[in-house]
Amino acid sequence: MVNSFASLSICHSSRVTIIGAGRVGSTLAQRIVESNLADVVLLDIVPGMPQGLALDLMEARGIESHNRRILGTNDYADTANSEIIIITAGFPRRPGMSRDDLLLTNAKIVVEAAKQAIAYSPNAIFLVVTNPLDVMTYLTWQATGIEKNRIMGMAGVLDSARFEAFIAMELGVVPTDVKAMVLGSHGDLMVPLSRYATVNGIPITELLDYSTIERLVQRTRNGGAEIVELMQTGGAFFAPASAACLMIESILMNQSRILPVAAYLQGEYGLNDIFIGVPTRLGCGGITSILELNLTATELQALHTSAESVRRTIQRAKDIILAGIGGDI
Ligand code: NAI
Ligand code: 2OP
Repeated sequence: MVNSFASLSICHSSRVTIIGAGRVGSTLAQRIVESNLADVVLLDIVPGMPQGLALDLMEARGIESHNRRILGTNDYADTANSEIIIITAGFPRRPGMSRDDLLLTNAKIVVEAAKQAIAYSPNAIFLVVTNPLDVMTYLTWQATGIEKNRIMGMAGVLDSARFEAFIAMELGVVPTDVKAMVLGSHGDLMVPLSRYATVNGIPITELLDYSTIERLVQRTRNGGAEIVELMQTGGAFFAPASAACLMIESILMNQSRILPVAAYLQGEYGLNDIFIGVPTRLGCGGITSILELNLTATELQALHTSAESVRRTIQRAKDIILAGIGGDI
């Protein structure tokens, strides 16, 4: 029997803070208010910039028919009592740069942002977007000291959406008919699960041959880099903002959607003390459960290989932080 009121209740508070008002942050702010999900505090280190963006979004409210408020600020005091803190502060990749190249700069930014934000919103759920994603999520968790259900990284929803988009383009079907799931780290070693990909319930293995599926899997793994190479001046932000917004909606509206997010593992899939993409349920309170799929030996091995790479980068980040940016995380 479906549990009636609990699963339908809507989280009470509706203030969300986005740290980093760049392309992902500002697009996400627009998505959130235009979806009427929450009021938004948009914080950036650049003076005047978030204030200008907020005013621009406020001026669009009548046309977009919503009454959500957007506050632009450079002061963490304005973020107080947010229900969700989204960290997009940091720098995107430039052509030829790997996500790990961003490590040092973004680690410093993210750790500082997390510490400031938690001081004003001790009960917030943290959603990390900054790259390298799985590592930044781990550092945010360490910097805030919050329970594991209240912290997650956004990547799996985006990577899955890309896989779905490529399948839809290949078959010439509407993307809403395609469902797919990508696990693992947000990088070249992500694990697109072809076996679970379907078009209106039909496994893609019945619609596409092996080499075509492999090509789409490879394009998914390269999805972020493909856009960086095309744009030359930064990375993707429309689909990333949509992906983060979907997660925020599931939390604020207590939808309990099953979505792949970078979650803290303690034994699930044979992995410990790591954030990596796995299927979770997102609802009031954040991650309400982690789902353990019955993976094949090959899929599980791919997930472990992905995790090893994240683990090495976490260690490198810890070394850098301890050596370079002063003391504890
Ligand atoms: P962007 O450069 O447009 O925006 C970053 C913003 O962070 C800038 O406005 C900058 O002023 C701000 N910032 C820098 N230091 C700050 C600090 N100490 N405090 C507050 N704000 C600060 O970059 P974009 O495209 O918005 O990407 C942001 C991050 O998200 C990058 O690391 C990028 O790689 C990552 N990303 C991750 C995705 C994912 O799937 N997890 C998808 C897309 C982007
Ligand atoms: C993306 O996948 C760069 O991580 C970013 O688009």
